[in-house]
Amino acid sequence: MNENGGRTPLIAGNWKMNLDHLQAVAFVQKLHWTLKDAKHEADSVEVGLFPPFTDLRTVQTLLDADKIPFELGAQDLSAHDSGAYTGEVSGAFLAKLACRYVIIGHSERRAYHDETDEVVAAKVAAAHKHGLVPVICVGETAEDLEAHGSSAVPVAQLTAALAGVAAGAEVVVAYEPVWAIGSGQAATPDQAQDVAAKLRAVVREAIGDEAAARTRVLYGGSVKSSNIAGFMREPDVDGALVGGASLVPEEFAAIIRYQNHVGV
Ligand code: 13P
Repeated sequence: MNENGGRTPLIAGNWKMNLDHLQAVAFVQKLHWTLKDAKHEADSVEVGLFPPFTDLRTVQTLLDADKIPFELGAQDLSAHDSGAYTGEVSGAFLAKLACRYVIIGHSERRAYHDETDEVVAAKVAAAHKHGLVPVICVGETAEDLEAHGSSAVPVAQLTAALAGVAAGAEVVVAYEPVWAIGSGQAATPDQAQDVAAKLRAVVREAIGDEAAARTRVLYGGSVKSSNIAGFMREPDVDGALVGGASLVPEEFAAIIRYQNHVGV
């Protein structure tokens, strides 16, 4: 619990196309031991890991066997349940692997795989159908920022993604300005708060007050142990979706332990 309306913060590591299943084992063990050594309280922050598909079964087995309190998620899913969709992965399969979350609409998928708002909405529906919580990614490019400011594109993307979602459903929203991803140039906490508050208003409008109060809105884009505390102080920022810095166990552990450097 934190002061953000009682929402448990979520620190999520999106590994993107990094770490094979053997590297994943070493990483998860190292992260777990680092947090244990630091006497990190597991229930103060939820930790989510989003490995490549080929690592999921291995990581699931390790978390289960060693009772490691991390949640598992996938980086994408098919909009379809099953059938002739070569190369696609069904939400039903992810649910069987004890995935709790699935990332949908990451800017890299929007840019390199032509994922439209309609595809994103269909994938959100598929996630809910299979009992997964969608982590819906939205964010403006540098050109969008120049032309429309920071919030117009993320607000439009989230409105489209939530169009078919039932009132009260569980979603996580990740605000990831495209210009901040992998650039070393994060948004400021003020900028993130401004957009996060507007995204929470979209959630309220689409699926109700109670859902909006419960929904975690994450910030993503060049999050590091040195800047996480500033984001987490903002009332509408409830966690982070971390790329590069989630691949180094010590650094990711320091991000998860941001409460130890609040005020620094
Ligand atoms: P970086 O943390 O590497 O900027 O990536 C952010 C991201 O895209 C997470 O989904």
